[in-house]
Amino acid sequence: MASSSNGKAKAPDNKFSDAEGYEMPWVEKYRPRKLEDIVGNSETIERLKVIAEDGNVPHIIISGMPGIGKTTSIHCLAHALLGDAYREGVLELNASDERGIDVVRNKIKTFAQRKVTLPPGRHKIIILDEADSMTAGAQQALRRTMEIYSNTTRFALACNMSNKIIEPIQSRCAILRYAKLRDAEVMKRLKEICEMENVKSSDQGLQALIFTAEGDMRQAINNLQSTHSGFGFVSPENVYKICDQPHPVKVRQLVRECQKGEIDQALARINELWEAGYSAVDIVTTVFRVVKGMEELPEYTKLEFIREIGWTHMRILEGVGTLIQLGAMIARLCRMSLPPHLLKL
Ligand SMILES: Nc1ncnc2c1ncn2[C@@H]1O[C@H](COP(=O)(O)OP(=O)(O)OP(=O)(O)O)[C@@H](O)[C@H]1O
Ligand SMILES: [Mg+2]
Repeated sequence: MASSSNGKAKAPDNKFSDAEGYEMPWVEKYRPRKLEDIVGNSETIERLKVIAEDGNVPHIIISGMPGIGKTTSIHCLAHALLGDAYREGVLELNASDERGIDVVRNKIKTFAQRKVTLPPGRHKIIILDEADSMTAGAQQALRRTMEIYSNTTRFALACNMSNKIIEPIQSRCAILRYAKLRDAEVMKRLKEICEMENVKSSDQGLQALIFTAEGDMRQAINNLQSTHSGFGFVSPENVYKICDQPHPVKVRQLVRECQKGEIDQALARINELWEAGYSAVDIVTTVFRVVKGMEELPEYTKLEFIREIGWTHMRILEGVGTLIQLGAMIARLCRMSLPPHLLKL
């Protein structure tokens, strides 16, 4: 982060230049610094903005999928609340730090007891990022600490699964759930970054990034940067090469063949994907996502297909990731499309 502070002086508004000539990961370069720069989940962000203005922070838990802005939001909130006092007023512990019971007893307590000068009406903040990786014992040790020091110190937890946080901690906190980002939201951000970085891209290329990222902004930005530095142009072909996922256009053809009951062609296609080295999970998840987004499939067929794909996904996750399973899935999908009188056994 040393270069980021250099860059900040030269180019404000998130636009960091790399003084040493090496390229900073764009996810860090374009990490929002203010709450209003965070994309998506607008209602929750609005709530955080109100909290930042009032200064009356409850203990909070932010939960949601990876790469949608949880850590970023907590940092922005802490900056908005404490301003220059951030250094003194914030203790951040994430999964890479030791966070056993001893740390909760010593480090967190010592910080909570310490006297620091903060803007009036503000509290010290303890950020526990990736809190779902804390052991239940360590979480138990937090319970009373959270209460005893609550007049001076507030806790902000981020986690992927809120059910990994023990009930008593949940009941002491306001829980904010972040949803996956919408395609349009990710698209807007990608376009902004493309403009700032002079990335050459086609619209379908950006769509492909969104398809592969599935609402995960971090992944979308990372893949954008890899495609840009690897190929110099963001087209669907280049994106799928970088992400190493089965090409959805091929998978869409496969689904169309299943819909028409053309089992030979469909099997040949699945063979082709298999021989290209994709794993059964890669294939089945792409088939699922393609079917989900296929507007031309009638609703009834779509639901039946999704159910069948779901069963196959389950079997694969149980360990039977063979070509036979995928073939069987294709056969069942084709079978649904055939007139029932042909299927009397
Ligand atoms: N809502 C968002 N708006 C703008 N950028 C975002 C958003 N969410 C994620 N990003 C980008 O992705 C990067 C990672 O975000 P962040 O660290 O907040 O994810 P997270 O939700 O904490 O994920 P994890 O659960 O993996 O810790 C940020 O640096 C930023 O570039
Ligand atoms: Mg995080």
